[in-house]
Amino acid sequence: MLKTIQAGSLRPEHVDQTVTLAGWVDRRRDHGNLIFIDLRDSAGISQIVFDQVLDPSIHQSASLLRSEWVIQVIGKVRKRPDGTINTDLKTGQIEVIASSLTILNESKTPPFYINKDEETDELLRMKYRYLDLRKPKMRSIVNIRHKAVKFIRDFLTDKGFLEIETPILIKSTPEGARDYLVPSRLYPGKFYSLPQSPQQLKQLLMSAGFEKYFQIARCFRDEDPRADRQPEFTQLDLEMSFVESNDILTLIEKLYYDLVKSITPDKKIKFPFPRISYHDAIEKYGTDKPDLRFDIEMSNVVDWAKKTDINILKTIVSNKGIVKSLNAPGCGDFTRGQISELEELVKTSGGKGLMWIAISKQSKSIQDLTIEDIKSPVSKILKLNEIQEIASIVSSEPGDLILIVAGPEKIVNQSLSLIRDHLGTHLGLKNPNTFEFAFITDFPLFEWKEEEKRWDAAHHPFTMPIKEHLGIVDKNPEKVIAHCYDLVCNGLECGSGSIRIHTRELQEKVFAVLGYTKEEVASRFDQLLTAFEYGTPPHGGIATGIERLVMLLAGTDNIRDVVAFPKTQSFIDPLFEAPDHVSSEQLDELHIKVNPTKI
Ligand code: AMO
Repeated sequence: MLKTIQAGSLRPEHVDQTVTLAGWVDRRRDHGNLIFIDLRDSAGISQIVFDQVLDPSIHQSASLLRSEWVIQVIGKVRKRPDGTINTDLKTGQIEVIASSLTILNESKTPPFYINKDEETDELLRMKYRYLDLRKPKMRSIVNIRHKAVKFIRDFLTDKGFLEIETPILIKSTPEGARDYLVPSRLYPGKFYSLPQSPQQLKQLLMSAGFEKYFQIARCFRDEDPRADRQPEFTQLDLEMSFVESNDILTLIEKLYYDLVKSITPDKKIKFPFPRISYHDAIEKYGTDKPDLRFDIEMSNVVDWAKKTDINILKTIVSNKGIVKSLNAPGCGDFTRGQISELEELVKTSGGKGLMWIAISKQSKSIQDLTIEDIKSPVSKILKLNEIQEIASIVSSEPGDLILIVAGPEKIVNQSLSLIRDHLGTHLGLKNPNTFEFAFITDFPLFEWKEEEKRWDAAHHPFTMPIKEHLGIVDKNPEKVIAHCYDLVCNGLECGSGSIRIHTRELQEKVFAVLGYTKEEVASRFDQLLTAFEYGTPPHGGIATGIERLVMLLAGTDNIRDVVAFPKTQSFIDPLFEAPDHVSSEQLDELHIKVNPTKI
């Protein structure tokens, strides 16, 4: 090794030892007779002193050093003189008096500061990702990710799970996104797919009798970019035989609780995680991934709306629409501009408008309201007792703002859930030091795709319906509830799983509802259906996103921060400049012709 110890590991117990260090020049401070170098390596920073009085020639060499040069230093560790101790640094009580300096490599001036936490253009950071990763914040996230994955491996190994790798070149397995395809050179016109997840493979491992499998699995999905998505990402993928939903949930609950406690002991986390049915989550929060750090809830106010003289609400209700409302605490003095921001959220969800009733802070109580206490575009139409009634439904107090949205169910829920989220941020209710995990359960098995006029799997097609609904899978698909669960935390979907179908007959029935032809089923799922005929046990599992877990642990809402070499939000790799054109020879070998009019 070119070093005897890490610069960042030096402590007072090393005083008087002669050490060899190697790393990067983080900072150079020239104080005339004394030059100080902060020497950075993967463990941290130590201060090196070059003293002209002790060694003029080494002091002269040190004056040439610039940021990010790579150097090797030999020197003696000493206690820092009184008054120069740096309590911000773990190595702040000591320094090294250099007796030898070797320059191992020079560096151009980096395109951004590495030793300062400055706002830097993300594209530039990603183009020079190897420099970006030198920053302590990025190093610490990479560290957290390593610890999280190690914790998972140790925890599951202790519980008797086996880590098994599954192939990357496979045939399409549906998870709702497009596949990335890999052309086959040996079989012209044929393609492998990269796995969207190892779903069918882990089910086949259950058929193979492994009973407890897991994998830190790479997944690839060609789907629309979103802030919490990457086209390639990593899952903790897990499957067990002879289990019920509760077995998977209690296992994941313990794993996540223990992991959070071990890696971020200062953060607050509750145990056990609440279990909320999909129906209740949509009713109360308008979304199946609610942020439970704050308790703003929405109420269905259809009955209230029907009684009022607001014709637009009545028309919407008679057209099978719904009316929901929530209370924005302390927001009764919102300006026109602040209310416009909320209206914008309704519009982006496809809604027409937002009705609001502001209650003056000056009013004594809801019972004693007068019409002067109210500001609202509908204050002339609504009667005082109607305002008092909705205020009591949504638990408003003086000084609050009542918000009402009417329209098709999906739009109303999405609008109010965006408003709820906006209020959570605006009111400072999203405590970054709290993890509010929950399981959302009892999802519908199918969802109706209006544009395509067909049923789709709400989770994926391998999900088991609940026992009570086995008889209505094909007769009333809209009513069927699935043995399916999501793990959510602070408004983020962290994982998803289900008990699986394990018989051919039921699986074929579900495929039929989804509109797969017999030929499609035979070509895509024959391996699984055949395995079901050879004693596949009842089984179930879950997959949780490693990036999303690390985002929570590291306290970032940018998924790219938790991936060493991520793609941009438009799924480009600026470092390697991928995707890229390939040579015509490569294309010829793969029997592929690119249509020039399409580029
Ligand atoms: P699902 O598709 O819900 O389920 O994925 C499971 C979890 O993986 C994470 N995730 C992502 N993370 C980053 N970028 C993405 N593009 C991305 N897509 C998904 C999320 C999500 O909750 N085979 C099933 C699991 C099962 O049934 O066992 C599956 O993959 O955290």
